Amino acid sequence: MKKHVNGTELFVQDQGQGAAVILLHGFPLDHRMWQAQVESLSSHYRVIAPDFRGMGQSSIPVSPMSLTNYAQDILALMDELGIEKATLGGFSMGGYVAFALLRLAPERFSGLILANTRPEPDGQEGRKNRMNMAVSLYDKGAAAARDAMLPKLVTATTLQEQPQLVDSLKLIMDSMPAEGLVHASIAMAFRDDSVPLLSTISVPTLVIAGEQDAIAPPDVMKSMADHIQGASYHVIPAASHLTPMEKPDVFNALLLNFLKGIKA
Ligand code: MLT
Repeated sequence: MKKHVNGTELFVQDQGQGAAVILLHGFPLDHRMWQAQVESLSSHYRVIAPDFRGMGQSSIPVSPMSLTNYAQDILALMDELGIEKATLGGFSMGGYVAFALLRLAPERFSGLILANTRPEPDGQEGRKNRMNMAVSLYDKGAAAARDAMLPKLVTATTLQEQPQLVDSLKLIMDSMPAEGLVHASIAMAFRDDSVPLLSTISVPTLVIAGEQDAIAPPDVMKSMADHIQGASYHVIPAASHLTPMEKPDVFNALLLNFLKGIKA
């Protein structure tokens, strides 16, 4: 369904009943990347999977975005949906937004799941790559992000052996509005350093890495987990970046086990 919040229209999948779990997607994706998690969790939890402004079915931004702006959209959405407190899960770009949410309103979250994400900001080279991505998005449309990202999202074995998964991934990426992805690229290029935030996180935290993830490598994720008090850290074998889609059974088992221990 679509909701008018914070001066925009956001698409959100809202499924199940119980304690709320918000799942924030990555780039260049939308809520559909969480399909296996929504199916698995929604018999016990209220699962909220929004599309960020300018991605999926949400409206295109009309002015430049920062990660803080995406986070403000999510807070407004929580208000609109009557969710006072939730467990927050962020995958990659969704993790960057989760960090921004914890800066803005830590009291709204009772647990944290960080999947395949990293706390450091981009360096100069990273920013330059984002600018190049923005230019190719204007030249080639969403295919620019699809072609650059696909080989980094799943392992070479998955690319070869799971054509159905690859097809559904392509379907999601091809449906992205290119201009929305430009906004997201620029927002990520200039995101805050979240390293100082890590030691202030006081909610139960689950950190999930993919063994072959080159975007958020396991050693970076391990160091992130080490800076969060009491965080539990897991590496999913034979997985690349997109662990929730590539290894849904292992990912869901970790999630369900973690959620059982959280007080709403
Ligand atoms: C993502 O999966 O959201 C992106 O890889 C994040 C990034 O490019 O930093």
